[in-house]
Amino acid sequence: MKTNIALIGFMGTGKTAVGEALAARLGKELVETDALIVEKAGMSIPEIFNRDGEIAFRELEIAVIKEIAEKDNIIISCGGGVVLNKINIDRLRIKCIIINLIAKPSVIAERTAGDDERPLLAVNDRIKEIKELLDYRRPFYERAADIEIDTSELDIDAVVNKILGELEENAGNG
Ligand code: S3P
Repeated sequence: MKTNIALIGFMGTGKTAVGEALAARLGKELVETDALIVEKAGMSIPEIFNRDGEIAFRELEIAVIKEIAEKDNIIISCGGGVVLNKINIDRLRIKCIIINLIAKPSVIAERTAGDDERPLLAVNDRIKEIKELLDYRRPFYERAADIEIDTSELDIDAVVNKILGELEENAGNG
């Protein structure tokens, strides 16, 4: 049986907040790929993007996922672009049930407003950028997901309850 849960999904879909609440409910450790990357690089995410570029960031992401994917009994909150490299999903799938959190572009724009930690959203027309990135990435998220949950209209507890319900259902079917 898989003892890990990986939360994937676009920026602003609630992965970190839901990950924290889910980890508390299940008594598991929360591991965040972005936090580990920052620790490893000794730089913030915008600094990594500015200094070394997105490809260098993705390489760090691959290294961090490789490390985390070996662990047991954890909740993993993945950076929004983890799905872009198939090797990440192949590695995560071995021990994780993969949950894709989704949200409407308007909700994502609202939740990420005023945030300057996300270099990909540091553009003039944020909503247009969100829609374009989402259109490109949707198939990657869908292909990776075992379970999908729309967080647009739900608070954190409601999302956690939904996840727990789906996991129980899955276990019943397995
Ligand atoms: C990214 C999402 C961010 C972070 C980086 C790139 C992406 O994580 O990894 O800014 O490509 O979607 P969050 O999804 O936690 O914001």
